[in-house]
Amino acid sequence: MANMKQIAQLAGVSLGTVSHVLNGTVKVREPLRKRVLDAVQATSYQPSQLARGLRKDKTNILAMIIPDILNPFFPGVVRGAEDVAFAKGYRLVLCNTDNNHEKEMAHVKALQAYLPSGLIVIPSDFSELAAETDTFRKAGSAVVCVDRRPRNWEGDSVTINNAGGAFDAASYLIGLGHRRLAAITGPLHLTNSQDRLNGFKRALRQAGLEIPAGYLQETTFDRAGGYAKARILLRMVPRPTAILACNDMIALGALMAIREERLRCPEDISLIGFDGLDLTEITSPQLSSVYQSPYQLGAEAVQLALDRLEHRSVPPRRVVLKTELKIRESVAPPAQAQKMRGTA
Ligand code: RIB
Repeated sequence: MANMKQIAQLAGVSLGTVSHVLNGTVKVREPLRKRVLDAVQATSYQPSQLARGLRKDKTNILAMIIPDILNPFFPGVVRGAEDVAFAKGYRLVLCNTDNNHEKEMAHVKALQAYLPSGLIVIPSDFSELAAETDTFRKAGSAVVCVDRRPRNWEGDSVTINNAGGAFDAASYLIGLGHRRLAAITGPLHLTNSQDRLNGFKRALRQAGLEIPAGYLQETTFDRAGGYAKARILLRMVPRPTAILACNDMIALGALMAIREERLRCPEDISLIGFDGLDLTEITSPQLSSVYQSPYQLGAEAVQLALDRLEHRSVPPRRVVLKTELKIRESVAPPAQAQKMRGTA
């Protein structure tokens, strides 16, 4: 069955013109309108019932694509987005990609049939995102990239100061006297992982500290990945005295590995996570973490999208939210420093 993109190509018009003709949203000059209707006739195109219903009822839909619904960070982002959307009379359609690029593209292509008023994307990958979402922009939808911002992204975005947050965490550990610091990063094709690692490296460089081979471990942003990589780090000789886990799920896995290796946190090894999830106050020890507000990330993203619908010609806006290092029980001076102070 033909889709709107094929109608546009056959009629030699933009996707937005096809959408306006089919949904009656904007008056289209007769010659163009006739070309669209002839193309529809020639291909027996059947517009999506939902899209036709929505456009006629003028129900405002915002679509949101998130990478991992099982990571407790993302429901917070969705909550912030939905609160602003609901307050402004919009409905939020949520799609989860499991950090799978094929699934992400399937969602993006399927959403093209609805052409939501806004598309909020937390990318699982970047290769085609900018191109694929161009279809939405051309059809008049607002597109906002959140949390992981592709280097070639030229539209609106909301991210956090990933590098600054990681720098603060590593600097704090160095200030405690740690000299053998390791990091477990998320997938390094994601810009938030790259930026956190860069912040970690900048802190060590400024302190004149080397990073021993193997002290940088890359994994998935989840507990299993954190557990597997922490076990490798804990068996190294010499062992790192502190680990920066680049999200709290990785830190949870590291805590499991520390316990399994019969080591103590923070006496034998200090640990800092990233996100500041509520669970960091429940773990034993309570986890120090770089806090970021998922709620604010989602709320700002929807606000940007709605502002874009109102003011299309405003230059792209790039919102960067602050982070805050929250120190709890999982950090202490390195063991030898504790011995010297008689605190071990
Ligand atoms: O997607 C994994 C991570 O990216 C989350 O835990 C949060 O840190 C986000 O920035």
